[in-house]
Amino acid sequence: MNPTILAIESSCDETSASVIQNGQVLSNIVATQAIHEQYGGVVPELASRAHQQNIIPVVAQALQKANIAKSELDAVAFTRGPGLLGALLVGCSFAKSFALGLNLPLIEVNHMQAHILAHFIEDPKPKFPFLCLTVSGGHTQIVLVRDFLDMEVLGQTTDDAVGEAFDKSAKLLGLPYPGGPMLDKLAASGNPDRFQFPIVNLDGYDYSFSGIKTSILNFVKKNSAAEPDFVHHNLADICASIQSALIQTLMKKLVLAAKDLGIKEIAIAGGVSANSGLRATLQDYAKRLGWNVYIPGFEYCTDNAAMIAMAAHFQYLAGDFTDQYASPDPRLKV
Ligand code: KG4
Ligand code: ZN
Repeated sequence: MNPTILAIESSCDETSASVIQNGQVLSNIVATQAIHEQYGGVVPELASRAHQQNIIPVVAQALQKANIAKSELDAVAFTRGPGLLGALLVGCSFAKSFALGLNLPLIEVNHMQAHILAHFIEDPKPKFPFLCLTVSGGHTQIVLVRDFLDMEVLGQTTDDAVGEAFDKSAKLLGLPYPGGPMLDKLAASGNPDRFQFPIVNLDGYDYSFSGIKTSILNFVKKNSAAEPDFVHHNLADICASIQSALIQTLMKKLVLAAKDLGIKEIAIAGGVSANSGLRATLQDYAKRLGWNVYIPGFEYCTDNAAMIAMAAHFQYLAGDFTDQYASPDPRLKV
């Protein structure tokens, strides 16, 4: 079996389509929705509308770049969830109509599972069993991955996701949306030991990131009262210190899980795995603890349809198809 699959991702603010043939990604087109920048966050209704506008050209480009005709496709895949309901509905409805029109089988993909399976797009690939720290704007999970489609969530955030913590911290410092990448950039020239922010340590492998916002808010208020330009003058050090606290929080539980399970194959996935501080810290731990660390290529870290296509490839081989009754699930679990 060497299936050719068209995959669609529309869970949040990226409209993306990808073509995969026999497990090789032939194209991965991503249309980022700039409309949300002026609102400082994703506006769900605007995201749905932008998906509707983008989906046809994005799919056409993905097929064209892959040099694949519609008649050559063996299946159509889409993100079923988790994500924004209206946004998911666009990709799901499009995939269903496309499949119906061409008489193709449909595959529904879990977005979080796909973030993890992005590791199988390029070499080197992790060996089973491995641990994956999935860190995005909506999720923070430590997942035990036994096989392509056999995953177990060991721990997760009990409140905000770490990506949300990055974005909200950045907003409190007056940085434009999305704040995560900007905070990362500024942190590169700052001193991470200059200021102390809380490193929350819950029981087991769970996380909590909501407290750091309050601590930053109080920190900014207190220091700005004494010196109005405090944030501006110390921006790089503040960013580096916040980033360091978030990374240390993430690493504590990951190290614990790796130790408890005796696993040295460690992967990271999701938008926050683009963070340069987290990447460097992981490499550092890899040296010290003898881990093999796997980080997907940048374009496969943030939301993209290539990871949906990769997941769909494994599901196709496993005979895991859905039908025209499929519907999005905003809270779909791994
Ligand atoms: O996986 P993703 O693209 O979308 C979701 O499924 O949520 O993740 C987006 C999140 C955002 O919170 C964004 O700020 C964060 O990933 N992010 C970063 C970086 N690049 C993206 N956070 C910190 N440093 C970065 N370099
Ligand atoms: Zn994502």
